Amino acid sequence: MPLVTSKEILSTALENHFAVGAFNANNMEQIQGIVEAAEEERAPVILQVSQGAIRYAGLEFTAGMVKTAASLVSVPVVLHLDHGYDFEQNVLCLRAGFTSLMYDGSKTPLEENVAMTKKIVEIAHIAGIPVEAELGRVAQSTDKLSYEAVCALMTDPAQAKEFIERTGADSLAVACGSVHAMKAQEAELDIARIQAIHEQVPHTPLVLHGSSGVKTESFVAAIEHGISKINVATYLNQAFTRGLREAVAKYPDEVDPRKFLTLSRDYVKEAVREKIRLFRSAGTIDASGGFRSAPKQFRSAELGAAE
Ligand code: G3H
Ligand code: ZN
Repeated sequence: MPLVTSKEILSTALENHFAVGAFNANNMEQIQGIVEAAEEERAPVILQVSQGAIRYAGLEFTAGMVKTAASLVSVPVVLHLDHGYDFEQNVLCLRAGFTSLMYDGSKTPLEENVAMTKKIVEIAHIAGIPVEAELGRVAQSTDKLSYEAVCALMTDPAQAKEFIERTGADSLAVACGSVHAMKAQEAELDIARIQAIHEQVPHTPLVLHGSSGVKTESFVAAIEHGISKINVATYLNQAFTRGLREAVAKYPDEVDPRKFLTLSRDYVKEAVREKIRLFRSAGTIDASGGFRSAPKQFRSAELGAAE
């Protein structure tokens, strides 16, 4: 089916207490692995493209691959700009047919973040495209920050309502304990902080970044308190590279790269399947590509009781 925007799928996720997996894609095999897993699991999915991916594969090329992948499946697929750092990048993605944008002003002073987010929201909304913003800052593992420093960058719940009102952003990336690009699942989320932010902006889907490093048990509570989009990149890169290493070791004389990349694609697919099930978005889409009505197994009270 054609690409959809993130607006409807994230509102549905928020209302029904599940989260949509947002998976970073850099090449054809990753894109195929992600959409194949989503199709088999009957889950909506967000394919997101970072600045690094755009530098690597090119904007038009990446957008074209995601659009083609979406057209071959019967679950909703979103093409999202991940961590757009400026106005120009967002406009270029809008022109390239992205159906969801992000402006990440987390490294700028609050007033600058508000002003630029608002400017991008205004232009994106004219085209019917939603925008994710970031308040607080999710650090990089390469920053090697202390626990105290990570805490100091966390989103202040008291700023959330005014930030959303002033910017008009459709979803909000929150800093609540995760750090980008961790290679092991060791981060604990500040669930009380997520809850406090959700109380301030109950109708705004919250976004979790740096999710590869988050402890598995943290996700259920985070989703319960408004996390509706969960970004995963490093975990998929690990799966892809593991496939490559294993295949190269197994077939040392092979020169056909397809032999290696097939295993990488399979491993990415299984990693995505695992996350989709963990985020409770599996089985939310019916055979015609719409959300199953009143998916009661996703209701709050029954979380934890599900498989
Ligand atoms: O924006 C992308 C994500 O926040 C990915 O973070 O590489 O730690 O999974 P991750
Ligand atoms: Zn991120």
